[in-house]
Amino acid sequence: MKPSRRQFLRGLANAYGALAAAELGLFALAPRVRAHDMARMAMPQLAAPSVPLLNPVSLTRFVDPLPIPPLARAAGERTHAAYPGRTLPYYRLRMRAFSARVHRDLPPTAQWGYEGCSPGPTLEATRGEPLLVEWVNALPAQHFLPIDHGIHGAERDKPEVRTVAHVHGARAPAASDGYPEDWLAPGHAATYHYPNGQDAATLWYHDHAMGITRLNIYAGLYGTYIVRDPAEASLGLPTGAYDLPLVLCDRLIAQSGALYYPVSDDPQAPWVSECNGNAILCNGKLYPYLEVEPRRYRLRLVNAANARFFHLSLSHGHPLVQIASDQGLLAAPLPRTQVELYPGERADVVVDFSGLDGQQVSLRQQGDAILAFRVRDRGRRDASRVPATLRSIARIEPASAVHERVLTLGEQDDSGGRPMMMMLGGQHWSAPITERPRQGSTEIWSFVNLTGDVHPVHLHLVRFQVLDRRPFDLFAWNASRTLKYTGPALPPAAEEMGWKDTVRADPGMVTRIIARFDGEPGRYVWHCHLLEHEDNEMMRPYELLPA
Ligand code: C2O
Ligand code: CU
Ligand code: CU
Repeated sequence: MKPSRRQFLRGLANAYGALAAAELGLFALAPRVRAHDMARMAMPQLAAPSVPLLNPVSLTRFVDPLPIPPLARAAGERTHAAYPGRTLPYYRLRMRAFSARVHRDLPPTAQWGYEGCSPGPTLEATRGEPLLVEWVNALPAQHFLPIDHGIHGAERDKPEVRTVAHVHGARAPAASDGYPEDWLAPGHAATYHYPNGQDAATLWYHDHAMGITRLNIYAGLYGTYIVRDPAEASLGLPTGAYDLPLVLCDRLIAQSGALYYPVSDDPQAPWVSECNGNAILCNGKLYPYLEVEPRRYRLRLVNAANARFFHLSLSHGHPLVQIASDQGLLAAPLPRTQVELYPGERADVVVDFSGLDGQQVSLRQQGDAILAFRVRDRGRRDASRVPATLRSIARIEPASAVHERVLTLGEQDDSGGRPMMMMLGGQHWSAPITERPRQGSTEIWSFVNLTGDVHPVHLHLVRFQVLDRRPFDLFAWNASRTLKYTGPALPPAAEEMGWKDTVRADPGMVTRIIARFDGEPGRYVWHCHLLEHEDNEMMRPYELLPA
């Protein structure tokens, strides 16, 4: 692989994120600049921030209560052509500009959010009960973050502000899935329907507009979408006020409180390969606290960051008992000292604060306290439980797959003279569709990671199981495109044995997943969930063919 402008930028972006963070004492990350990248001095560099950035260490921690996003309320009932003779609950979510303090001692931060908050209101659904959401773009005509018009889909002839909502993890029909090119300009709206024909799980909604998803989500366009079902409800897990979404992301925040999004020093190609923040927001706040009772809580952790992965733990070695992953319950609860989440992934954990009355427990990201739980007894009894068995998860038999697709992560095309991100299967977004699974069929997709980094790969529409990861010989691949394995296949970790929709594709490995392609025929997408990658060609359409 020849070193490219892209890799140079990437090295700098990483170094910048790490240095900013290290200076601030926020995280312990090793700088990842590569020597050969540094040699390419003709390449554009990451521009110095145009505004002084906040030093989060200077802020008093745990002075703001953790915001709990409001529950979305149906605005009424409506009919829909897909459900003749029925009326369905109808929700309306307007994307709006707003300002809110991310911390008591900072000026308000201008953001964009659904219903003027970030995270947006939580949508709650029940398995098998469809609902309608009218997504309304009520945003200004101008973007406040730096658009790279050289990126496919973000050209100057398109409106600057475009949005399209996607419910990540939903088995939604193609026309309601938020296809990246189905965007709406300000003043426009679209009504999507969600059948909710799927198991209870923590899903999340977010923007997906072609070429500017990274900026729209960064601006604040995300929220949670919770599917419940009777099977899960019968387990006795913590519910109501004891069942909370906790959406995590990182942002670069200026001393003025403004959101800062990094750019390269080439005004013609401002795109950077990863954006790492100096501040970690929990439900939109920096260093909040939550008053809890000495009992069990269910926390629905969502990684909504552009590129950061989280390594979460509790202070004093308290365990996080993981009960669910992306697509719902695991087979059995899994006590963990640390939970890793890559962008797009979710983990539901139960934390038991019993016996800790009067104490403070903190949630840590790589050792740094980002959220404090203050335990106060209010004399209420905890009737919740975490049963030893949560559900049964039958493994999909690899022999049932009718197709195995070998898909590379990271072949690149620098021919255009612009920093080009890696591609999927060596194809640009706009190349003809090559993945056409048949409805109801089972397929294995093998992700061959040719890069030096992890890419969290997400498929729309389907849930899948992780089969294995196996090291391969990159030289043999580059020389003759043959897969030569250099070691045995490694089975997935216990937390990856449930249903997933986003999988970590490790460098130097072939990561295999298996899925049954249930759902409505049509056009969907699969992509890397590092948002900078996704925006710059690391996304491909796929088509579900009728059975
Ligand atoms: Cu979380 Cu294609 O999305
Ligand atoms: Cu998705
Ligand atoms: Cu990627």
